[in-house]
Amino acid sequence: MRPLLEARDLVRAYSVSGGGKLRAVEGVSLTLARGETLALVGESGCGKSTLGRLLMGFDRPDRGQVVFGGQDLAALSARATRQIRSRLQMVFQDSGSAFNPRWTIGQALAEPFRIHRRPWSRESLEALLDRVGLSAAFHDRYPAALSGGQRQRLNIARAIALSPELIIADEPVSALDVSVQAQIINLLRDLQADLDLACLFISHDLAVVRQIADRMAVMYLGGIVEEGETLSVLATPSHPYTRALVEAVPQPGKPLGVPLQGDVPSPLSPPSGCRFHTRCPVARSRCATERPFLAPYRDGRHVACHYPLTG
Ligand SMILES: Nc1ncnc2c1ncn2[C@@H]1O[C@H](COP(=O)(O)OP(=O)(O)OP(=O)(O)O)[C@@H](O)[C@H]1O
Ligand code: SF4
Ligand SMILES: [Mg+2]
Repeated sequence: MRPLLEARDLVRAYSVSGGGKLRAVEGVSLTLARGETLALVGESGCGKSTLGRLLMGFDRPDRGQVVFGGQDLAALSARATRQIRSRLQMVFQDSGSAFNPRWTIGQALAEPFRIHRRPWSRESLEALLDRVGLSAAFHDRYPAALSGGQRQRLNIARAIALSPELIIADEPVSALDVSVQAQIINLLRDLQADLDLACLFISHDLAVVRQIADRMAVMYLGGIVEEGETLSVLATPSHPYTRALVEAVPQPGKPLGVPLQGDVPSPLSPPSGCRFHTRCPVARSRCATERPFLAPYRDGRHVACHYPLTG
């Protein structure tokens, strides 16, 4: 069956002051089926949010294609773009400033209907509030009345308002307490099952990823280094970088503390060959000159490494 979303060899480089190009996304391909959840994980700055924006069509790739529901996002007319916009939605980390403080919660929730010229009623908005576990009484109140977890529920309500097929969630629970995180993850899982929603879930927290994602893709310096079923990848990582992530002491809500030598190299001057070779505990001479590409490995897994782990 045709995937819902397909990214083909995406490249996105930013021009930096003083000249030079920062290659934030470097040759990423991925697919997402209807109703499936794919987690995108990796350390800060590896290109997760840039990739999310490219997949949403918020940003154009320098090279490559994003195909959603069989349509190339870059080739759409303005009208077709507006139509497709209602089918894919984004949820961000709660910043506390996502809502206009002068609008009631009902007005905030009606916004997607207004933008896409769809009918709505007070009852339909109250039903949406109920759907995400918020009391209908919030309809006439203001966002200031909400806690962080409740604000994220409202963000989710707004994202599902037009019955999308795909949600891209960029660190949606990172700003929340662990107990609240679990509630929001449960809500997302319930909604996904009920609405047959596909989800690209961006996170740096493997404990969260384990709870929500069917598959996971691990990014390092702009590229995917391993991709496969979540439980399989976490149990037997095949890429040395994935193994380092898995072995990092789990600290919910904290940035990844990866037990590797050295810092992540600058994406302005990435290492030659395998981008991970400067930190890889099992690198050999070939790794410094020859770039490994993502290729099928065991258990339906894809790995970009000349010497994948066998353990
Ligand atoms: N608009 C921009 N202009 C220039 N550089 C950018 C821009 N946006 C991102 N970058 C750079 O691109 C790289 C990837 O950034 P991105 O935000 O996609 O990473 P990330 O994986 O989402 O990180 P985090 O986990 O911190 O959110 C980083 O080096 C970042 O500094
Ligand atoms: S290609 Fe070489 S340097 Fe890169 S991850 Fe594999 S073993 Fe390590
Ligand atoms: Mg980000």
